[in-house]
Amino acid sequence: MTAHANAGANGRYAQITGWGSCVPDKVLTNEALASIVDTTDEWIVSRTGIRERHVVAGERETTATLAARAGRDALLVAGLPPAELDLVIVATATPEYAFPSTASLIQDALGASSAGAFDLSAGCSGFIYGLSMASAAVQSGSADHVLVIGAETLSRITDWTDRNTCVLFGDGAGAVIVSACTERCGVLATELGSDGSGGDLLILPAGGSRRPASLETVSNGGHYLKMNGREVFRFATTVMPRAAESVTRKAGWEIADVSLVIPHQANVRIIESAAKRLNVPLDRFFVNVDRYGNTSAASIPIALTEAVAQGRLHPGDKLVLVGFGAGLTWAGAAVEWGMPPPATTRTSLRRFLARLGILLAGNRSWLRQSERHVYNWIMGPVGKEDWRGRLRQRVDAWRDRTRRRLAGRK
Ligand code: ACO
Repeated sequence: MTAHANAGANGRYAQITGWGSCVPDKVLTNEALASIVDTTDEWIVSRTGIRERHVVAGERETTATLAARAGRDALLVAGLPPAELDLVIVATATPEYAFPSTASLIQDALGASSAGAFDLSAGCSGFIYGLSMASAAVQSGSADHVLVIGAETLSRITDWTDRNTCVLFGDGAGAVIVSACTERCGVLATELGSDGSGGDLLILPAGGSRRPASLETVSNGGHYLKMNGREVFRFATTVMPRAAESVTRKAGWEIADVSLVIPHQANVRIIESAAKRLNVPLDRFFVNVDRYGNTSAASIPIALTEAVAQGRLHPGDKLVLVGFGAGLTWAGAAVEWGMPPPATTRTSLRRFLARLGILLAGNRSWLRQSERHVYNWIMGPVGKEDWRGRLRQRVDAWRDRTRRRLAGRK
């Protein structure tokens, strides 16, 4: 287990200055699921607390499109131009591709022209892992602004004939901006843990380098997630309270001082069990699993965005984020909230101008691709030497083709 509590060592703290989330429009209710697999609304609600979840519809909605929308909203709240981002981290178990990283696609979609970008794989703990990396980069001075996104389309790796898993998951994305500040606030401590001996308890068996995609992996359902629910439940109810307690202590707080706990939203029974073990009233835990199901790495930033929108976070509040997931992994973060509600800090004109700026920055991708096409058209595959000669050849060839075409018409 690694712990990180050196906030302020350089006089620099890492504050959450922007947040945003996005879920697909399509809602899948328990009743609708009961018409697909042998289950009931009563079973799902009593065992998990889930009533409905959002799922992507069609090929145009993907992990990257959800992530880009959440990222854009977070930039708007922070009032930060995309070009000022130093790093984009996307935590996901359902990336757009094995490579390029989804983070690079987001860097491009947002026009974050000065940012490095990478994906992070830590299951449902991924967002807190990303927050920990971002705050360490900001506190050390290697970055001033980092965009951290948790984004998933778990519906794409769900076996819709397996009632043990298909009732649990949903799609969505959530994002935060982590920025440098000099006042003591923001991410004060984090804790990351892993027990790889439980890797087989929650796994996507095929499609990696160990079992590449083949007719056999497809026909055996190897590209759908597999889970031992009871074992994961046992693991979760043990590590969640432990990680929450430990990170609280590292921040120098008592658990009784914590204003709000935002746990990973997997199952309301796991959250109730953590509240009981920590001896914290359940109303100090944020719960929205009933409306989204388990959105894996996206669940905590979606919940954080809703908590702010509901007015549940105020400057000076002590916030604990805690999660667990595939790996097996767990993670916690202690955050002193530093931001007033966004409505009090930004006028509608400033919001409009910021939105316009972000939209224009997003068009940079089109310009970069056009530039590459023109370059390749002139140079061909040979390289840079004698580009004037190459351009002349290209123009001559184009002129000859056009002349021949016109002569053919006569
Ligand atoms: N509808 C009706 N019956 C069902 C369903 C369903 N959707 N799913 C399972 N059952 C049945 C089982 O077949 C079993 O029947 P049996 O006793 O005849 O075999 C019975 O219900 C009870 O099964 P249990 O596994 O004991 O049910 P449990 O109370 O443990 O709840 C659950 C199952 C909800 C999966 C729970 O174990 C759980 O939440 N585990 C944690 C899962 C989790 O959090 N995963 C996310 C990890 S994070 C990440 O990285 C994605």
